This record gives sequence, structure tokens and C-alpha cells, in this order.
Amino acid sequence: MNKLLLVVVAVLVLVGGGYYFMSQLPPTFTEEGVLDEVSNEEPSGAMVGGTAVEIKDFAFSPATLTVKVGDTVTWTNQDSVGHSATSDDGSFDTGVLAQGESNTVTFTEAGTFNYHCTPHPNMKATVVVQP
Ligand code: CU
Repeated sequence: MNKLLLVVVAVLVLVGGGYYFMSQLPPTFTEEGVLDEVSNEEPSGAMVGGTAVEIKDFAFSPATLTVKVGDTVTWTNQDSVGHSATSDDGSFDTGVLAQGESNTVTFTEAGTFNYHCTPHPNMKATVVVQP
């Protein structure tokens, strides 16, 4: 009987210990996940005043960049394929940038400027210029 009790206690300790171990680990991962999500959202959502757009994996990042009138925006192509940042209304064009190349555009008028990549018209993004 004592032996059975010992086994039951041992199982309880193991299960309890395992549960305690599990309950310690997941919150750490969840916190990291939440932190990652927050920091990932900041560049696209709240990045006011940033003036750099990275072209990578056939996408502009951030997809929406908010700047002020007079700001200069720099596009840099990280892909091995050539990309451009060409405004839909023709007001600016970086030209096709090779890998590692960059070009800048100074925005002198307020407005919302949608742009695309000339070789890949499905690549689209926006610069919002605030007065
Ligand atoms: Cu492209």
C-alpha cells in the first residue's frame, strides 16, 4: 500500500512539475510573439518621418510611408531583380534600380502618391506627404 501511495505521489509530482514547467514556458513565447507583432506593426503603421523604403522580395516596405513636405525619400533595392518606384501619376520615378542601388525623391507637395514598379506593375505602395 505504501508503495502504491509512493507511485501516486511520484506521478502527481511529475505531472505537477510538468504542468508547472509548461505553464512557465508558453507565456514567455507568447510575450515574445506579442512583442514581435508590435514591433512589426510600427514600421508600417506608425512610422511618421521615416524616409527609407526597402524593396525586397518583390515588395515595398513600408507599403505606406508617411512623410512631410520637403522630405527626401530613399528607395533601396535589395532584390537581385531590378525594381523601380514609379508614381502612378508620373510625378516621380526612381528608374529601375539594380541590386544594392538606391535613388531619392524629394516631395515638395502634400498629397497621397500611389506608385508601382515598372517591371512588375503588381508591386504597389503609397507615399503620404503631409503638409
Ligand atoms: Cu519590381
